[in-house]
Order: sequence, then C-alpha cells, then structure tokens
Amino acid sequence: MAFQWYPGHMNKAKNQVQDRLKMVDIVLEIVDARLPYSSRNPVLEDIINQKKHIIILNKSDLADPKLTADWKLNFEQEGTASIESDAKHDNKLSNLNTLIRAELSQKIAKYENAGVKNYQIKAMCIGIPNVGKSTILNKMVGKNVAVTGNKPGVTKNQNWLKTNYGIDLLDTPGILWPKINDPKVGMKLALSGAIKDKIYPPDDVAIFALNFLQAHYLKRLTDVYNLDSADMLNHTTGELLMHLTEQFGYKEDYDRAARKVIMDVRNLRFGRVTFDVPGEFYEE
Ligand code: G4P
Repeated sequence: MAFQWYPGHMNKAKNQVQDRLKMVDIVLEIVDARLPYSSRNPVLEDIINQKKHIIILNKSDLADPKLTADWKLNFEQEGTASIESDAKHDNKLSNLNTLIRAELSQKIAKYENAGVKNYQIKAMCIGIPNVGKSTILNKMVGKNVAVTGNKPGVTKNQNWLKTNYGIDLLDTPGILWPKINDPKVGMKLALSGAIKDKIYPPDDVAIFALNFLQAHYLKRLTDVYNLDSADMLNHTTGELLMHLTEQFGYKEDYDRAARKVIMDVRNLRFGRVTFDVPGEFYEE
C-alpha cells in the first residue's frame, strides 16, 4: 500500500463522507486500539460529530488493556460512545450490534411509535487503512465482501452491505489516509505496521520505540533484552540500539537490529503495548 496524503484527496473524501452522512443513522469509526488518537482521521472529526458516532477500538487483543479502559473513559468524557473489539477472533461482534441499538434507541422508539416495525438501521463505517475495517465489515455481514476503499480500482460507488440483524452498512468512499501533522504520529503508525515500512528509516522507528518503551514499559524492555540499569543510564537510545546490535550478534548492521526491535514490538515480545496515552498525548 503506497502512502500519500494530498489535501485535494482528503477534501474529496471529506465531501463524500459529508454527502453520505445524510443517508445514515450512525457512523462507526474504526481505530486501532493501540493508537486511538494517531489512527483517527482528524479531518473527518468535525463532520462526523454531527451524527451519532461510535468509536470501535479494534485490535484490542494487541493493546494494553489498562490504556484501552482509559481511552474508553476519555471518549465517554468527550460524549462519544466507544467499544473495544477484536475482530480477528470475535466472529459475532454482537456487543457492537447491542451498542448500535442502544445509541439509536430513541430514534428506533420514535419509528416504532409511528408504527414502523423492525426499523432498518443504516450505519457508515470509516477508518484509515489497516485498522481492520474489512475484517469488521466481513464479520458483521457474515461473508467476505469487497471493501470499497482499500484497493485501487475497486468501485467507489455506493456500496450497501446487509447484515441479517437489521443493520445496513455503507462502506467509506475512497481511501481515508491518516494525516501526519506530528512526526510522533508517523512513528507510531510505522511502529504498529499501519503504514509501509519503507516510509520511515527503521533506525528512527526503532529509536522511537526504545524511547517509548523506556518511558512507559521500562521493566518489560529491560527484561526482554536483558538490560541492566547501567545500560539504561549510560546510553542514549541511539547508543542503546548500537549496544543491542552487538548483543543480537548483528555486527554493525544497525538496520537489521532496528527491524528486529520493530518486529519484537509488533509480535508482542513486550506484551500488549498501546502507543497513545490519553492526556499525555495532548501535552506532547
Ligand atoms: P482494513 O480493511 O482497515 O485495511 O484492514 P483489514 O481488515 O484488511 O485488516 C488489516 C490486518 O489487521 C489484517 O491482517 C487483519 O487480519 C488484521 N486485523 C483486523 N482486525 C484485527 C483484530 O481485531 N486483531 C488483530 N490482532 N488483527 C486484526 P493481515 O496480516 O493483513 O491479514 P491476515 O493474515 O491476518 O488475514
């Protein structure tokens, strides 16, 4: 997947989302639970706030459970419903169905009072690439469907998908790239694998990871790489990467060591790690 962000593309996607908002009752915004801030598309925030809106913290099986709970509280305080999801392993996503109905209970009741039985809910799914949008749509629909935005050439026309529990789903138009204003957001997206590895040099991403682990998961870092306090105190993270290169037996191949650090993060060698921390993130 190439990674490009052009204001023109984003404005087009924004206008298309705005148009389609009129057709739906609720927006399902899918984010990566490891990056509940960095994997959101800030350009869309204003317009989707006009609608009922649920943030789906997907890939929660990879995220730090304590921080997922903190993020849910954070969104609740902002007045937005959220739910954690592990779409890879949860075949039913029934909690999501329940939450959608709860969020729309007043509207459904209004229709029922007017004599409309089984009001067909219309929801739109949005999310930057790789957050698990196709997986969620497939699980909700119960079969493999071609998801609009992710592959160039796949139709960008309206694409309604039917579930067998009264919810019709509208896929996002086009590709909603993340917007990287802050270099740390880029590093976090790269570290999680949300954007292609070639976009940032691996040593930059690995040094970012070592800094982040040192600040937030120090014991896990020292345990996994068998580091002592002198290693941590006497080295900058750049030097630490050089030290690890030697320790891994990679001679002076720093890129190889950097790629190993990145893969160790992705493969959960440091356990479930969340890269965005509520509150702290906004102060950065
Ligand atoms: P997208 O449409 O938003 O671009 O994402 P997509 O569903 O294609 O998912 C991207 C990758 O994330 C896939 O992995 C998918 O399996 C994985 N994924 C989706 N939801 C979850 C989740 O809740 N937890 C975990 N751990 N992974 C999730 P892949 O390696 O590209 O494919 P695959 O080999 O897993 O099929």
